[in-house]
Amino acid sequence: SSFVHQLADEHLSEEELLADPVEKIAAVGGTRHPSIPLPVDLFGEWRNSGGIDLSVREVLVQTAQGIAAAPATAGTDAADPGAAEAVDRAAAAFRDWADTPIDDRAAILERLADLLEENRIPLMALAVKEAFKTIPDALGEVREAADFCRYYAARARADLWPVALPGPTGERNELHMEGRGVWATIAPWNFPLAIFLGQTAAALVAGNAVVAKPAPQTPEIARAAVALAHRAGVPQDALVLCPGGPEAGAALVADPRVAGVAFTGSTATARRIARTLLEDERRPLVPLIAETGGINAMIVDSTALPEQVVADVITSAFRSAGQRCSALRLLLLQDDIAEGVIAMLKGAMDLLVLGDPGDPATDIGPVIDRAAYDRLMDYRAAMEPQWIKSLPAPAGGLFVPPTLIRLADMDALNQEWFGPILHVATWKAGTLGETIARMNAKGYGLTMGLHSRIARSGELAEARARVGNLYINRSMIGAVVGSQPFGGEGHSGTGPKAGGPHYLQRFCAERAVSVDT
Ligand code: SER
Repeated sequence: SSFVHQLADEHLSEEELLADPVEKIAAVGGTRHPSIPLPVDLFGEWRNSGGIDLSVREVLVQTAQGIAAAPATAGTDAADPGAAEAVDRAAAAFRDWADTPIDDRAAILERLADLLEENRIPLMALAVKEAFKTIPDALGEVREAADFCRYYAARARADLWPVALPGPTGERNELHMEGRGVWATIAPWNFPLAIFLGQTAAALVAGNAVVAKPAPQTPEIARAAVALAHRAGVPQDALVLCPGGPEAGAALVADPRVAGVAFTGSTATARRIARTLLEDERRPLVPLIAETGGINAMIVDSTALPEQVVADVITSAFRSAGQRCSALRLLLLQDDIAEGVIAMLKGAMDLLVLGDPGDPATDIGPVIDRAAYDRLMDYRAAMEPQWIKSLPAPAGGLFVPPTLIRLADMDALNQEWFGPILHVATWKAGTLGETIARMNAKGYGLTMGLHSRIARSGELAEARARVGNLYINRSMIGAVVGSQPFGGEGHSGTGPKAGGPHYLQRFCAERAVSVDT
């Protein structure tokens, strides 16, 4: 691509690249969206992969080469098992894996994190090729996947040992955390490595065998991740890849030997899974961890800094082509500043570059598939009378033009549109509490943003916003493992939060043991 050549030709120094005002260049170098290193003493050995030493030039050039060399998406393989066979194998492997000491399971996850980093170039290339991730987003995938592995390893070491509990003299009381059996992990295409592996690594380190089903759009990067997990030391059948479409997922969830399901995807699918798990009366009651959609708002008052608001809106609504469950869908501007912010936002949108996701100059690539494209384009067309701004899109690909849509009333948006479409409505000074309550009333509860310099408004949002992730005076995407545990409530999910301190426990069975000594 032109940018890669420019790098090679002009011999720009890394400092120069990182100083470029175009944030995507900084993002490739990892300073735009860093994983925040946590104090080492908090998690002992855990080191956050924000420390990956990546040369900007190396990443750009090698990823471009990797994309060219990456295999075409093959979908399911002749050797891939069906759901029943996958569960057979995992069930047979469960006991030995559960008996593997916690330290050994954690060490395997840490080895996997190292392998992910070592293999970041082919993994990034697959993320670009299969999921149309931009290069900064592809790098973010590898980092987040490695972060999940290291974080869950550290949490397992800290939290999964048997703990002694009080009791009378002559009695020994202990609480044990044990694997439950075979977990099914069902992953989305929008984080085909990070979420695929995050759910899977958590289930594994907690002592479960796993049948992992990637999204049908992104099987190859999942195949690579599973191969690395096996190389890191996960026994072959303790982690079985089960690629396929909705039928494969349905068969997996319906298998009565599945002892838990971790799912990330749509609210509708989460409900179907829950129904299936409860259908068969003879089946044990098993946990479902679901992370689903949201209608995410950012509320902006007249004390906010408009430049920062605009930068954060662009990132939150349009980065990753709006295909993040955390993404901003509804911008709520205080009425007296609305027109000024909208004018700036329109100008900022003009700077967005749509194009080939493998080209480092690209901000926004195509959406995931034809079905998503058609759904978004039909909605956009229906809303055309309310457009404030729409960008031209390159011809010939599944490019959904970033679009700004004016709503007469915030209550008009009641559905998640999973793409680069941002709605704008206004609210009146003095009605912040009511505005938050109206967002809560939509029933979702994933992310919310607030831009305000009034401390009391921040406190009000903290007290009232019924969301899993509240972001004040910053963007609202890109939750960092261990710093911003991610996941919502209401129609947005069941909890516990991925990348948080209470996640692993939900994958375990708790056994209290009392011994009369
Ligand atoms: N974890 C992702 C984010 O925070 C979710 O979509 O953006």
